[in-house]
Amino acid sequence: MKKRSAFITGVSGQDGAYLAQLLVSKGYEVYGGLRRNSHDELYRLRLLGVQDKVKLLNFEITDQFGVTELISKYRFDEVYNLAAQSFVGASWDLSVPTTNINSMGVLYLLEAIKRFSPETRFYQASTSEMFGKIVAPIQSETTPFYPRSPYGVAKLYSHWLTVNYRESHGLRLSSGILFNHEAPLRGVEFVTRKISRQLCEVMNGTRDRIGLGNLDAKRDWGYAKEYVEAMWLMLQQDEFDDFVVATGKTTTVRDFVEYACEPLDVEIVWEGEGENEKGYNRKTNKLIVEVNPEFFRPAEVDVLIGNNEKARTKLGWQPKTEVKELARMMVEFDWAAIQKAG
Ligand code: GDD
Repeated sequence: MKKRSAFITGVSGQDGAYLAQLLVSKGYEVYGGLRRNSHDELYRLRLLGVQDKVKLLNFEITDQFGVTELISKYRFDEVYNLAAQSFVGASWDLSVPTTNINSMGVLYLLEAIKRFSPETRFYQASTSEMFGKIVAPIQSETTPFYPRSPYGVAKLYSHWLTVNYRESHGLRLSSGILFNHEAPLRGVEFVTRKISRQLCEVMNGTRDRIGLGNLDAKRDWGYAKEYVEAMWLMLQQDEFDDFVVATGKTTTVRDFVEYACEPLDVEIVWEGEGENEKGYNRKTNKLIVEVNPEFFRPAEVDVLIGNNEKARTKLGWQPKTEVKELARMMVEFDWAAIQKAG
């Protein structure tokens, strides 16, 4: 029997690598789209042992001709669009490239699918950032959106475009509204990995302290490896739809710091408020964490918490890893890596 084919845009990222691993294990012919400058990022595929099992294709999502040619040539069974300028914090400075990649790129993909490969099942990586300044205490698929960053605005366009192409042309398109999802493979610019990595460096003596932005921000943090399973499940359904993927629990950045401290046997004591808040190691009195306004955002998303009921009932998906366990996993990974590097 012919293997099913899947194309992952953004295969070098955290989710792309976990998804590639999952699809390889399910017997897919896996193709990964790679930008010219992303080759050094293949370490994630290497770490997961799938770098030789993914066929890499040159891919630039902002090049409409290239996107169209690729989709019409391969006519993949499934396409997972994970390519994005995914760092919210950079999207104010990079609003034009963020929009070109996160909005226009999706338009190019959907146009190509509509014209040349209408049987393709398509997954769009939507995001809880679209809820932004929340209008309901717990966010579900029916909660109105209020994005707070150029990133969120660009993603909202693509979310609605996916809905619209599904409804207008009867295409097989699903959109996953994923809340924050982390792992040891998370980029170091995102707050959880920044904390796990830099905390290990502080404890190892190679860094003085960690500078963080808004410690009161609350996020619904899950484990990325579990979230890519939800992506796959969405494309195995008879009906294509939108799904929130979340744990249903929310945690402050400050609490995440404490969870990350535990495996290193560090207890942190907080003093001061706002920009003057500082975290000290109780045993040594050493300053470990301080607030640095450089990491504040022009408009913040204060709190996110998702309702995953639809994913649980329709997809049979559920989160398994608690945020504390996730923090431990990330710290243990970073600590081992630092020890290995000497
Ligand atoms: N990155 C970062 N660095 N964030 C910080 C810091 C810091 O030093 N200090 C506090 N924060 C706060 C941010 O202000 C934000 O409120 C929260 O920590 C999480 O920031 P990120 O980890 O950068 O993630 P994000 O929530 O902005 O975006 C991530 O999740 C989205 C899903 O809701 C990204 O993965 C997006 O691509 C994704 O769509």
